[in-house]
Amino acid sequence: MPKTWWRGAAIYQVYLRSFADGNGDGFGDLAGARARLPYLAELGANAVWLNPWYPSPMADGGYDVADYRDIEPVFGTLAEAEKFIEEAHGLDIRVIIDVVPNHGSDQMAWFVEALAAGPGSPARERFWFRPGRGEKPPNDWQSIFGGPAWTQVPDGEWYLHLFAPEQPDFNWNNADVIEDFHDVLRFWFDRGVDGIRIDSAALLIKDPDAEPDGQDPYTDRDGVHEIYRDWRRVADEYDERILIGEVWLPDQERFARYLRADEMHTAFNFDFLGSPWSPAELRASIERTLATHVPLGAPATWVLSNHDVARPVTRYGRADTSWSNDDRRDGTATDLELGRRRARAAALLAMALPGSVYVYQGEELGLPEVDDIPDELRQDPMWNRSGHTVPGRDGCRVPLPWSGSAPPYGFSTGEPWLPQPAAWKELTTEAQETDPGSMLALYRAGLRIRAECLGDGSLTWLDLGDGVLAFTRESGLTCVVNLGPAPVALPPDREVLLTSGPVDVDGLPADTAAWLR
Ligand code: GLC
Repeated sequence: MPKTWWRGAAIYQVYLRSFADGNGDGFGDLAGARARLPYLAELGANAVWLNPWYPSPMADGGYDVADYRDIEPVFGTLAEAEKFIEEAHGLDIRVIIDVVPNHGSDQMAWFVEALAAGPGSPARERFWFRPGRGEKPPNDWQSIFGGPAWTQVPDGEWYLHLFAPEQPDFNWNNADVIEDFHDVLRFWFDRGVDGIRIDSAALLIKDPDAEPDGQDPYTDRDGVHEIYRDWRRVADEYDERILIGEVWLPDQERFARYLRADEMHTAFNFDFLGSPWSPAELRASIERTLATHVPLGAPATWVLSNHDVARPVTRYGRADTSWSNDDRRDGTATDLELGRRRARAAALLAMALPGSVYVYQGEELGLPEVDDIPDELRQDPMWNRSGHTVPGRDGCRVPLPWSGSAPPYGFSTGEPWLPQPAAWKELTTEAQETDPGSMLALYRAGLRIRAECLGDGSLTWLDLGDGVLAFTRESGLTCVVNLGPAPVALPPDREVLLTSGPVDVDGLPADTAAWLR
């Protein structure tokens, strides 16, 4: 196995609740996921990233962790998690888990203890408890999910939660917090986990009492890097274990700081994920990405979707194809045919770029965002916290369709926790497996070629005109993406390895990508 497996890996994101249900309760689980590991191997995944699998009241889909050293009973047991890791390794698939260090659950032992121990106690020091300003919270910070970032407890104090009230923020100045997370990392590394995805990684250091000091009061404060230097030392006690940051920052120079040699190995590329379907903007994003990563020796990552953002097939079919925090899943008119064409081309682009690539479950099936989940079934805290103005992220979390012609499409034998659309009978893995023109066939072929001639490295741009992104990789593979309105002629004397759509005598049609050699 190569020393640096992660530099060029294809990483498949498993949102466990919605992947595959092994026991018929309507929620995906480890038994279901273990049974589908061969599917991931066949697809060409080099690693899986699992969203949080810990015991959780599920106030935020598991990002409210009640115990960092165990498995949510709905998902299975610790012994099953160990089996999952072992079986994945047996198929040459690495396992990345999600660690949530910014906040815990209000049901975790520490928080229960803090409530009981009362004001001024050491137990409260692990969180951010403060007296209010009269009837008002300690300051005016707003929660990222909407509403105030403080909740009052019966004895009158308030505690900070940058997300939902069920997710109290940890105090990262506290030695217990620092040491306990080192222990959590070792707990999972000892069990064979290959990588840690660090949730909300830029938010850990905050100071609600501070006078304004020119820095954001809780995003990307300078002190946060000390935490990851410590974490890197822990990861380096083991062989080939990696840290991957969820770092949403518009400023690339600030983002790059997290990738310094003694901090994280990689971080999610939200700049690329957020780019609209525009040749100039995508090229600018790719160049920005390489300009920040190359000098640090850190591989770039290429991400088109995850469990927090609208599905690409839907997003690329809208008038506004950029991603932004507020305009997701609003039911705006969508041309799904156009979106699908572009999503196919985008997939070949992302897979061809130097670095690692992420595939969020269902992306390989071309699932659209489910815009019409009945309001009473919506589970994302964003929906309630926003006063029902932001639909939230449930539309990209609907359980996968595996087989058959009606829900639950082989996902479960029971009723899925979110309803699956009738139109998904055409999008099951079973239906796509035998169709050479399917999204699944494209992802399989793309990842197969990628494993041989793409991955980490560098690129050389080719000039094929304004609306076209074209570059050649070290292996000689050329990727051409036509984002302009008219067909473009492909460079002559090259063998066409793969295209995202039909190519005709006029050349490569609009919204289509080709790989040539
Ligand atoms: C991250 C997760 C998101 C979660 C939030 C709070 O952004 O990706 O799903 O709601 O952190 O933990």
